[in-house]
Amino acid sequence: MTEIARVHGPLDAHGERAKSLQTVYVYEAPVRLWHWVNALLIVTLCITGYLIGSPLPSVSGEASASFQMGYIRFAHFAAGQSLIVFFLLRLYWAFVGNRNSRQIFYLPLHNRTWWWGILYELKWYLFMVKDPKKYIGHNPLAHVAMFSFMLFLLFMMASGMALYSEGQGIDSWQYKVFGFMFAIFPNSQDLHTWHHLGMWAIVVFVVVHIYAAVREDILSRQSMISSMISGERLFRDDIDDFPR
Ligand code: HEM
Ligand code: HEM
Repeated sequence: MTEIARVHGPLDAHGERAKSLQTVYVYEAPVRLWHWVNALLIVTLCITGYLIGSPLPSVSGEASASFQMGYIRFAHFAAGQSLIVFFLLRLYWAFVGNRNSRQIFYLPLHNRTWWWGILYELKWYLFMVKDPKKYIGHNPLAHVAMFSFMLFLLFMMASGMALYSEGQGIDSWQYKVFGFMFAIFPNSQDLHTWHHLGMWAIVVFVVVHIYAAVREDILSRQSMISSMISGERLFRDDIDDFPR
């Protein structure tokens, strides 16, 4: 038997061999690029943000000779503003990209199958059902998580820019655009605290997200991590009867 026939052939006597292998192109290059740049920026923002909130012990000597907090804050502001630029590019791609590029920006609340899908995925993640459902894009539970994450990002960007505008002054364009955050949080310290708490919410998201990506890659019979690298989702079983 040739190699191809062996891979695509029927299950062997022990049921160990994949029945068929099918791939679908899901994540276009701009989405993948955004994902990994975004991940890197968020790690940078969490580390530098943590250090802004809990600074390292002072170093001896003239402050201008080491400029320690200056570099940490500079890295935070540079990463923060890059996050916003990449977010806007990603938003643009949601309009011009394929249907999967739009998924994380809306929830199909009117779709009953989708609601049942959330319940099913909850059971699946709790090991209460045996068969993984196959999806070309994100599964309904992941969809909710990604959408909520986008809302968190929006809050972090608006609160971060509002805090930044305090340094730029009330005449700055930053204050004109993001000063509305001080109408919601009149006390700047409150805004600091919520911005800080937002970081911990993002840390929780990232931990659960990486766990789910690795878990699904192994258990759900469809590729996950490599899909965010190559763009293609590989289905290890027949895909005739799964929801799109
Ligand atoms: C700070 C770190 C990270 C953040 C903020 C993050 C965020 C996201 C977001 C927002 C999406 C949705 C992408 C879209 O549809 O446009 C996504 C998808 C994905 N991420 Fe991450 N990610 C991070 C790190 C990682 C890491 C380290 C891995 C690999 C272990 C990973 C694996 C994936 C996979 C496999 C998907 C696609 C999931 C699916 O197809 O349902 N991510 N991530
Ligand atoms: C994932 C996104 C982000 C995370 C996790 C994050 C995290 C943090 C944390 C933990 C702090 C310390 C708050 C405190 O305890 O006082 C902080 C401060 C700050 N962040 Fe962010 N941040 C993010 C995005 C942004 C963005 C987009 C900007 C906009 C440029 C920004 C600008 C600032 C500013 C101006 C401060 C106050 C600095 C200071 O008072 O010295 N952040 N950030």
